[in-house]
Amino acid sequence: KIVPVIMAGGKGTRLWPLSRASAPKQFLSFLGETTLFQKTLTRIADGTLYEAPVIVTNSDFRFLVAEQARAAGVPLASILLEPVARNTAPALAAAATVIARLHGEDAIMQVLASDHEIDADAVYFDCIAKAATAARAGRLVTFGITPSEPATGYGYIETGEDLGNGAHAVRRFVEKPDRDRAQTMLEAGGYLWNSGMFMLPVGLFLRELQQYAPDVLEAAGEAVTKAHHDLDFERLDEGAFARAPDISVDYAIFEKTPIAAVVPSPISWSDLGSWDSVWKTGKQDEAGNVADGSTTMVDTRNSLVISHDIHVAVQGLDNVAVIASEDAVYVGRLEDSQNVGKLVKHLAKLP
Ligand code: GDD
Ligand code: MG
Repeated sequence: KIVPVIMAGGKGTRLWPLSRASAPKQFLSFLGETTLFQKTLTRIADGTLYEAPVIVTNSDFRFLVAEQARAAGVPLASILLEPVARNTAPALAAAATVIARLHGEDAIMQVLASDHEIDADAVYFDCIAKAATAARAGRLVTFGITPSEPATGYGYIETGEDLGNGAHAVRRFVEKPDRDRAQTMLEAGGYLWNSGMFMLPVGLFLRELQQYAPDVLEAAGEAVTKAHHDLDFERLDEGAFARAPDISVDYAIFEKTPIAAVVPSPISWSDLGSWDSVWKTGKQDEAGNVADGSTTMVDTRNSLVISHDIHVAVQGLDNVAVIASEDAVYVGRLEDSQNVGKLVKHLAKLP
């Protein structure tokens, strides 16, 4: 069976002011009832296909994880807590070390982001089966999404040789290119976006970490060895984990490894990374507006308006995001919503 690993330690700053330091976006529901983390749990709930999941998250989010998992009715194998945020490479190095000890190096782990909107339909599970086959054959597998615009927030995968069974070798992996480079790759064709979900043979993933990011593996491995058990949680050792460089698995491994493969995946997928993508995923009315909560729009087009507390009325605007939380309101152009992370840095001093 596949061992799921859910990465739930991101900050989600681009979805301010709904996504906050105390409760980032994976623990919120956008335009719906269950949270993105809970939706992720239900995608790996089939006990015939999956072992119980390992959750890796920041210590700050431990109660959100435990409570939301309990509410979703999905039992967890383990909740690994990072004492400091070091991005996804150290988080996955720690998870792989734990899984190798629990299930052996031949285990296959499926890495899931906790903040995506995905339809877990028959096409999706067909892609999962293909990826598991390629992983068992010795590949670090990504899921490729057909690109629709020169987005700069994704990894780009140039597909290579057909490996059979729906998988292709990865010729090149370019994480978060600038606009010009993204445009060039989109026009050239033959590229897919990295979905941010992976299928990994545990032993080979550890070997590639040893090869391309030995300092990440060393720090994470020692943090696991010295971890201590606290209620439902495994606290990674702070002294060891803090030594790990702050780097994502995309830069640390996928840009470098020669054994990556990609399964082109015609699934319904959205990285709810910015207000723009929330608007695209939402149900647009005839004027192209998406609204949630208590709102009124007049002479307004192609806009996203969300407010759950006060009533928000918008008049005479195009392509804007107006997002009201209990104590803060954001107003900006939808197409600039990749920049909200920068705005949040200016706000860092607010309570
Ligand atoms: N445990 C843990 N610790 N999880 C983390 C950390 C961390 O320090 N940082 C981020 N995460 C989690 C996030 O919560 C999210 O579920 C996932 O890891 C991915 O992190 P993001 O920060 O959202 O990455 P990204 O969106 O910039 O880029 C990745 O995803 C894209 C697709 O959405 C990359 O894999 C890209 O190549 C990919 O295209
Ligand atoms: Mg993301």
